[in-house]
Amino acid sequence: MEQLLIAGGRPLSGSVEVHGAKNSVLPILAATLLSGGECMIENCPRLSDVAASIRILEHLGCQVIQRGSTVWVDAGRPLRGDVPDGLMREMRSSVIFLGAILARLGEAVISYPGGCELGPRPIDLHLEALRRLGAEVEEDHGALRCRAGRLTGCEIPLSIPSVGATENAILAACGAEGTTVILNAAREPEIVDLQRFLTALGARVRGAGSSTVTVEGGRPLHGGRFRVMGDRIVASTYLAAVAAAGGEAEIRGADWRHLATMTAALGEAGCRVSSGPDRAVIRAQGRLRGLRPIRTAPYPGFPTDAQAILMAALCTAEGATVFVENIFESRYRHVDELARMGADIRVEGRVAVVYGVPRLHGARLRCTDLRGGAALAVAALGAEGESAITGLEHIRRGYEDLPGALAALGAEARLTGGDT
Ligand code: EPZ
Repeated sequence: MEQLLIAGGRPLSGSVEVHGAKNSVLPILAATLLSGGECMIENCPRLSDVAASIRILEHLGCQVIQRGSTVWVDAGRPLRGDVPDGLMREMRSSVIFLGAILARLGEAVISYPGGCELGPRPIDLHLEALRRLGAEVEEDHGALRCRAGRLTGCEIPLSIPSVGATENAILAACGAEGTTVILNAAREPEIVDLQRFLTALGARVRGAGSSTVTVEGGRPLHGGRFRVMGDRIVASTYLAAVAAAGGEAEIRGADWRHLATMTAALGEAGCRVSSGPDRAVIRAQGRLRGLRPIRTAPYPGFPTDAQAILMAALCTAEGATVFVENIFESRYRHVDELARMGADIRVEGRVAVVYGVPRLHGARLRCTDLRGGAALAVAALGAEGESAITGLEHIRRGYEDLPGALAALGAEARLTGGDT
């Protein structure tokens, strides 16, 4: 079985660049369906979730070419509108294709995207947004049949600033006649990237990054060229790795304004982080300090995707830190694995209290989900002795080459076994 072996207890040093943002490129790949021409997407990360999206595009009839971190998508040909169950289940966020297929073809058939390791992942807000635009949505034995003779622009108030529902509404609204105004929209930077991409195709979308996004739909979109933003959660992971192991490193390629909550937390914990437009230098020496409560929240609050990662770095901090996970119901599955390394963490529902221990020790660990898996690698870097991490398929959903990136920072991290 493939394992990631990490010999912990050594300070990190060096420089590493983050790859393109998974949560930006996934909706952008779906958005290529709106284009009548060829789209060239640069800085596209090589991830299993991206490969799953490309398989969906090819199934729908697009021609896709991928060379390194550049992907060309030609959607200017006859397309089909159904995504079979097998492809839907490969990736939780495949529901993001619904709005784009509906805008392009007027009908879509997808299977209900399953839940995932983070607990139930309802899509009621996605479906409500599409119904408001005029789509008929019916559930038929696990399949969702969506039909819209024509989509008409309207007001879409979201009860939760859902990232995916905001993105699906934007994509469907591009195919709707007239103006759509999305209220209480999610404000994540990845939605701003989606707006930039759609604008490059000739769409009229404005307000992304604020709670009100306006789309003037019904215009045919042409092809275009676009470079995906750097991944802020991958950048957070590398910062946490240095915080956990100690040392000094430069991390390039993310927009540091997007990481203010993470860099502020690490600064409060005793790290020194200096950041420029697209790079940051972090220095960590000695024992970290516990923090005031960390409450995850929609952007610009503390990102839920960085919760496990920060927690891993704080397991050996002086004092205790309270985490409150407000976004997902079950996002503490990494806690049991951290406990195998000697961490002292108590979980009560959405609250986890991390009591700092003097040190962690290496252990055999199993990834539970994407960010929980990355958190285990972070903890292993600061632990004494060697850790062996399995379940790496979870990590590959969101990290191009985590072992390679950690090795570039001077970590003793290597893959063994498996068929790689
Ligand atoms: C996106 O998921 C990200 N995924 C997640 O990143 C991220 O954790 C999440 O946003 C929050 O920032 C992608 O962008 C591909 P939501 P999404 O809709 O869109 C509830 C990672 O590790 N909700 O903002 O699914 C939902 O259950 C992944 O990269 C409804 O109730 O998140 C959750 O509690 C994990 N009904 C909350 O809203 C709906 O119709 C926020 O979910 C939709 C969501």
